[in-house]
Amino acid sequence: MHSIRPRLINENGLRVDGRRPDELRPIKMEVGVLEKSDGSAYVEFGGTKVFAAVFGPREAHPKHLALPDRAILNCRYHMTSFSVEERKPLGMTRREIELSKVIREALETVAFLEEFPRASIDVYIEVIQADGGTRTAGLTAASLALADASIPMADLIAAVAVGKVDGQLVLDLCDLEDKYGEADMPVAMAPRFNSVVLLQLNGKFSPSEFKKGLTLAQKGIAEIYRLQQETLKKKFSASRPMEV
Ligand code: CDP
Repeated sequence: MHSIRPRLINENGLRVDGRRPDELRPIKMEVGVLEKSDGSAYVEFGGTKVFAAVFGPREAHPKHLALPDRAILNCRYHMTSFSVEERKPLGMTRREIELSKVIREALETVAFLEEFPRASIDVYIEVIQADGGTRTAGLTAASLALADASIPMADLIAAVAVGKVDGQLVLDLCDLEDKYGEADMPVAMAPRFNSVVLLQLNGKFSPSEFKKGLTLAQKGIAEIYRLQQETLKKKFSASRPMEV
């Protein structure tokens, strides 16, 4: 049987969308984009488009779930039905339940939940369009939305996937690279502490590819972190009252 696997790196060493192996997709970020929530963010990595909204801290509901010493962090990662080509089930799939959990665990490492006993903080991530790297874009957006909601945190979380396509390590995979590549490794970090808060691997890396991949992810994360800080500064300096 013939394989219809597309070629992912061309003779000039460029990727399907024209990027170099170590290049991120064009990134857009904005905070305070929604009015009904306490904090919100919109993040775009090329064709991947994600909203995040945060409510809280507010009284935990139902009350019996409240914790006496800290806030509960609820997190829901969801892909809209129109974000992918295939017919996606309306409810939460197993994949979305798993991603909600790993995203929550990553956010819990930085949020000062003990400052809000008996409260809940609810994080909603909606993928509007999926083109690879939705969990990493979702996490990047969620930490911006938490900051926008003034939830105290030890650091922001910045995330990106690295992978292997046509035997070559690449940064920030698009959907085609994710589907037809040999490996995909999403990485999220609290960059201030140089601490990895999420790392998954789908496929195979040799130990040296793993090391190089992690270094490549760190490079992308440093750039994403810089953009996050810039985005927050822009919002908060615009909303600060004028000095007289
Ligand atoms: O999005 P992310 O890379 O974090 O997760 P994934 O499970 O590795 O999915 C990779 C990509 O596959 C997504 O970004 C979508 O573009 C695509 N996908 C899809 O088309 N339909 C799904 N039900 C799930 C994923």
